[in-house]
Amino acid sequence: MLGDEQVTTSYAANASFWIRIVREELDRFQTELTDRALFDSIGDCKNLVVLDAGCGEGHLTRGLVALGACHVHGVDTSEPLLNSARLHPESDPATSTFHHADVADLPLSESSIDLVVSNRLPHGLTNPERRFVEFSRVLRPGGRMLLLSLHPCFYSGRADNNTSARTHFTVTDYFDGRTVQQHLRVAEHTSPMPTVQRFYSLEQYVGMLTGAGFVITGLFEPHPTTNQMSESSWWRENFIAPLFLLIECTRPA
Ligand SMILES: C[S@@+](CC[C@H](N)C(=O)[O-])C[C@H]1O[C@@H](n2cnc3c(N)ncnc32)[C@H](O)[C@@H]1O
Repeated sequence: MLGDEQVTTSYAANASFWIRIVREELDRFQTELTDRALFDSIGDCKNLVVLDAGCGEGHLTRGLVALGACHVHGVDTSEPLLNSARLHPESDPATSTFHHADVADLPLSESSIDLVVSNRLPHGLTNPERRFVEFSRVLRPGGRMLLLSLHPCFYSGRADNNTSARTHFTVTDYFDGRTVQQHLRVAEHTSPMPTVQRFYSLEQYVGMLTGAGFVITGLFEPHPTTNQMSESSWWRENFIAPLFLLIECTRPA
């Protein structure tokens, strides 16, 4: 089995759930916040060769191709998600290739990628720095990388799936690393199997990136606008902590 066993098993069991959430645009965090933040940061990707690390059912890959990327390599450990990506009517092998692989062992040659984008790829349960080292290997000198993840400093599981109350974690949990396992509930749909996320402290996360040779050039915390908060009770009830972190890095030329 490719990847971290618990994570891969969970995505295989939850594949239909994830495909539905993404394709029916049910996740407001994604559609109204994180996708916008990510595409804003990506900017012009015309003629770039891109790696979509942990591509899932392929919506980001399709978005990048629509924006003019020359070729997008989607990589994922989940066969069911990759198959749905390949079978999507907008998927075209001339502009995108979907690889069944662990991002820690990419089937791509050195310096072959202009831009690495990783949208909500779970932090590895063990040895996550291997992924960053591998991203650095395939990225060309001067190339950019964007990592959008759950916020390691604030994200915690929900105490109860019917409320937005969050579980508590201690300072020791934060510095030792913590694992959040929970059934995900999105717009009244609940994942059949718990999702698994491993969190590292910000210090460790940054250390892994710089240790892999990256220079951090931007750090953003996508959050709702004042208007979103004042106009929608959904945002007030659900965005009760900074939930997302977007890091921009470059591989020095
Ligand atoms: C939350 S989903 C995000 C999917 C997609 N990026 C999106 O935004 O819709 C995380 C994806 O990472 C994949 N994944 C988890 N561990 C991986 C690994 N070690 N290598 C490649 N893909 C992995 C999962 O199979 C899943 O498709």
